[in-house]
Amino acid sequence: MATLIDKPLEVCKDHYLLKIDIGISLSHPGQFANIKIGKNDPLLRRPFSIFDHKENIIEIIFKVVGKGTEILKNICKAGYLDVIAPLGQGFSITENKNTLLIGGGVGNAPLYYLAKQLKAKNNIVNYLYAARSKDYIFFEDKYRLISNTFYLATDDGSGGRKGTACDISGELAGGSGYDIVYTCGPAIMMAGIVRIFQNPDTRIEVSLENYFGCGIGLCSGCAVETNAGIKRACVDGPAFDGRVIDWGSLLQ
Ligand SMILES: Cc1cc2nc3c(=O)[nH]c(=O)nc-3n(C[C@H](O)[C@H](O)[C@H](O)COP(=O)(O)OP(=O)(O)OC[C@H]3O[C@@H](n4cnc5c(N)ncnc54)[C@H](O)[C@@H]3O)c2cc1C
Ligand code: FES
Repeated sequence: MATLIDKPLEVCKDHYLLKIDIGISLSHPGQFANIKIGKNDPLLRRPFSIFDHKENIIEIIFKVVGKGTEILKNICKAGYLDVIAPLGQGFSITENKNTLLIGGGVGNAPLYYLAKQLKAKNNIVNYLYAARSKDYIFFEDKYRLISNTFYLATDDGSGGRKGTACDISGELAGGSGYDIVYTCGPAIMMAGIVRIFQNPDTRIEVSLENYFGCGIGLCSGCAVETNAGIKRACVDGPAFDGRVIDWGSLLQ
């Protein structure tokens, strides 16, 4: 049984933080929580990545995009919340490597928890935080603090450099020597990142945020084509080797 610790806290335009006691102290960066919002409408649970996890409390950042997230935003008090977590396969955690984390929009959420664990394992954490505009940047200070090098970019140039995640990645890719690149954001952005980092010595891990049905491997609603056949993003992922994904089919 999970308990919402406090009502949702607005962290930037249209984005809210939830703190939920799930009664479990272990999870892996890139795993997600499946939240039942409302009784019958929406019918399906909604998946959200774990932004942070301390003791039994997970934190989630969600962006309001539709019915479920609108209801979630309007929860006005702490109390019982129907949550299944942690679920799925998260990112791999390397040691003593030079890493680059690239987040687009709310896709930055799982990368904060990842950055913390990578730092604890003596990796160099280079972070590229990309957003539409400065209004959509949450917890910039936290990301700066956890990073050895921090790059900020917005599409309209209102915060940090002007440019998209792919624009800046193009510059960072040249002669970078990153051992591993982790990314989460819109599929089109992640497909672009995979194209940009072509050096086969640089591993690329992506976290997919395609549509989920059950979230526990039963419905195939999250099926994704890979070079090893069809995978279910909810149980085989959401974190995958970016080079195995058939991006063409995902972007259709
Ligand atoms: C593994 C995973 C982790 C995720 N982590 C986060 C997170 O940390 N924070 C966060 O804000 N969101 C996250 N998402 C996306 C989140 O699940 C959806 O935004 C949410 O389910 C929308 O619910 P809704 O009822 O508000 O929107 P709906 O009413 O269902 O849809 C509203 C609009 O949003 C679009 N939409 C809904 N879901 C998605 C999706 N998965 N991808 C693209 N467009 C979508 C619909 O096409 C529609 O236009 C994650 C998704 C997955 C699969
Ligand atoms: S969402 Fe049902 S199998 Fe993945």
